[in-house]
Amino acid sequence: MKEILITGGAGFIGSNFVRYVLTQRPEARVTVLDKLTYAGNLANLAGLPEERFSFVKGDICDAALVEKLVKKTDLVVHFAAESHNDNSLLDPRPFLDANIIGTFTLIEAARKFNKRYHHISTDEVYGDLELDDPARFTETTPYQPSSPYSSTKAGSDLLVRAWVRSFGLAATISNCSNNYGPYQHVEKFIPRQITEILEDRRPRLYGSGQQVRDWIHTEDHSSAVLLICEQGEIGETYLIGADGERNNISVVREILRIMGRDENDFEHVNDRAGHDMRYAIDPTKLRTKLGWTPKYTDFAAGLKDTVEWYKENRDWWQPQKAATEAKYKKGGF
Ligand code: NAD
Ligand code: TYD
Repeated sequence: MKEILITGGAGFIGSNFVRYVLTQRPEARVTVLDKLTYAGNLANLAGLPEERFSFVKGDICDAALVEKLVKKTDLVVHFAAESHNDNSLLDPRPFLDANIIGTFTLIEAARKFNKRYHHISTDEVYGDLELDDPARFTETTPYQPSSPYSSTKAGSDLLVRAWVRSFGLAATISNCSNNYGPYQHVEKFIPRQITEILEDRRPRLYGSGQQVRDWIHTEDHSSAVLLICEQGEIGETYLIGADGERNNISVVREILRIMGRDENDFEHVNDRAGHDMRYAIDPTKLRTKLGWTPKYTDFAAGLKDTVEWYKENRDWWQPQKAATEAKYKKGGF
């Protein structure tokens, strides 16, 4: 697969995947299609080899543009999405456009030109687990999304599944747990807390802070996606997770410790509406069928490196920070 079209490649995970593929596969050429919404940033793609990389600014809902790009590629990897739960509670409509219509537009083009398609999704499509539930999400867990974000991601997954069955689309799907690492937008939990501390404010925990997320380093997400694109079975879904369950309060405390603060120097704020309690992935299928293993197994070390990155890259995040906090304030978060 030489020509790869990556949607949403100017975002957090998409840009990590672009860099990962160009490094791991010297023969690959990558085209990124990205609308550069508030979440897209060309700085995430700085310094890539010109002869193997090109960028197209555009919307995945633009069928003519999508057809033109899909026609000349070997593989489509679809990351582009509206990706933040809190935004989806304030204004759901953009989530329907990007996540549902955008996916529909891409799979129609992939069908028309008979192209291999990989769909990036989230574990949030499965809803949430109780804290003491011994089970974790598997590929057969029923869909039960809670938010406008997760329900539109669930809808997009179901479209892909239907296109595989009804039209023979050569697609795979992956549902990954919460990612962390450099280049994540400051609206998300971990970068928000790090940058709040860097701006001399206290981290904010929604509700009790007992909610559990299953953290994975974004580069481990990328390695799993490339493996699935190359060795995954058409029509199959793979869950991506790295056994990284942590509750929010312990993550905030760890960040505070790393940054030399009192580990109790945070505040509890109003809870998120419909807040999912726990996500947890059982990655057995990916590990046993495709032999995948994560590289970043020490969460504290990965978090420390991430804190360092935000300390050293103020120019990257500071322009987004004030607008992000203003949005939170307006939304009452
Ligand atoms: P992000 O918000 O950082 O980036 C999204 C990118 O998509 C941005 O560059 C944005 O400009 C682009 N985009 C949005 N709408 C577009 C449109 N209509 N046309 C073209 N480009 C558009 O998101 P992320 O955190 O990198 O997530 C990427 C994907 O991974 C999403 O599909 C998300 O659902 C999925 N995912 C994310 C996580 C996580 O923890 N962040 C976990 C599992 C799955
Ligand atoms: P987030 O990064 O928004 O990811 P998701 O909602 O997809 O899991 O949030 C991760 C967890 O952190 C989630 O339980 C909500 C919580 N949270 C806070 O406690 N405070 C915050 O300021 C933010 C942004 C999130």
